Amino acid sequence: MRLNLVLLLSTVSSLTGASPLGFLGLASWDVEGFAKDNPIGTTTGGAGGERVTVETVEDFRSAVADNVPRTILVKGNLNFTSRPKIGSNKSVIGVGRTAHITGSGLDLYNVDNIIIRNLKVSFILGNDCITIRNSTRVWIDHNEFASDISKGPDEFDGQVDIIRGSDWVTVSWNYFHDHWKSSLIGNDPAFRDIDFGHLHVTYHHNHWRNEGTRGPAGRFGHQHVYNNLYEDFLYQAIHSRSDNQVLVEGNVFRGNTREALSTYGLVIPDDSPNTCVCGDEELDGYANLGARNDWGGAGVNITQVGDFVKAPYKFKLTPLLLVPTVVKLGAGIGKI
Ligand SMILES: *[C@@H]1O[C@H](CO)[C@@H](O)[C@H](O)[C@H]1NC(C)=O
Ligand SMILES: *[C@@H]1O[C@H](CO)[C@@H](O)[C@H](O)[C@H]1NC(C)=O
Ligand SMILES: *[C@@H]1O[C@H](CO)[C@@H](O)[C@H](O)[C@H]1NC(C)=O
Ligand SMILES: *[C@@H]1O[C@H](CO)[C@@H](O)[C@H](O)[C@H]1NC(C)=O
Repeated sequence: MRLNLVLLLSTVSSLTGASPLGFLGLASWDVEGFAKDNPIGTTTGGAGGERVTVETVEDFRSAVADNVPRTILVKGNLNFTSRPKIGSNKSVIGVGRTAHITGSGLDLYNVDNIIIRNLKVSFILGNDCITIRNSTRVWIDHNEFASDISKGPDEFDGQVDIIRGSDWVTVSWNYFHDHWKSSLIGNDPAFRDIDFGHLHVTYHHNHWRNEGTRGPAGRFGHQHVYNNLYEDFLYQAIHSRSDNQVLVEGNVFRGNTREALSTYGLVIPDDSPNTCVCGDEELDGYANLGARNDWGGAGVNITQVGDFVKAPYKFKLTPLLLVPTVVKLGAGIGKI
């Protein structure tokens, strides 16, 4: 069944040149979730603006700096010594499989309407691969994030962190692997006044493999987490704390995963061993289960059920049995 499906999908893809996944109606290839359906309007990035190709750190920095709509096509390795700040109204899109960001990651601060797509971002030191702070309408799509999990939780920071009242974000079709702390939403229990009522994030069709914690971990917001594939997500995958709400459906867990979903207000030792001796430090979060998940052998630990029981938008749910195949075929770079 699985082999035949892979064959069928690759055949359709070579015949049509289009994504077989979207084509066959198995999943959405376009923006979907909170970055599409929200009170401000669909995320369009640089649509309607000029298109420029950049191959150097200097050209990248100047092309992303202002708030004018622009599509920036990225070629080759860009090794940043400090974090480039991405302005509003930008699509930053890697060309083929060539675009590789390393050194310092991307900073989205006080901005609106940004698409980041088809970039490999790896071995970022001293900060996150991408930080979204006080920003709205962001679509992080079809990227690859990786480092080295063997160096422990504090060698590298987050892969995609979404903080300071950011809102209306979709994180789709990314390949996150070999990294400890993946995606943190709300980075401090003291920021309730800034964060509460914001931090609406959709995570779908992401492939997490050999990761430690935070797939994602949320505070004070709402996250819809559907059709993701978790392979060897070692310690704790989805974590909801400090009155956060998650709606979790149609996900598949494989391999070695201790806890698929938890609402304990605890910072577990594997998450932040140096800052926590680990008691029940924060308020618990809430979790709701929608369409069936396949937890594999992982634990599920829900202390309170909330009221985020249905996504406030239409979306394409991939049948549970097809999730591993569809996610492996579609997630990561070089697929769009
Ligand atoms: C984004 O672009 C639109 C259309 O040009 C413009 O109206 C808006 O002000 C821009 N956003 C920012 C933050 O400058
Ligand atoms: C990036 O540049 C730094 C020096 O600024 C260097 O140490 C590092 O090896 C470079 N990384 C890559 C992947 O080229
Ligand atoms: C958040 O971003 C908005 C829009 O750019 C800005 O007006 C506001 O001052 C920012 N707030 C903070 C706390 O930086
Ligand atoms: C639930 O999580 C708490 C806190 O991490 C832990 O003490 C408890 O053993 C867990 N229960 C189950 C059934 O996994």
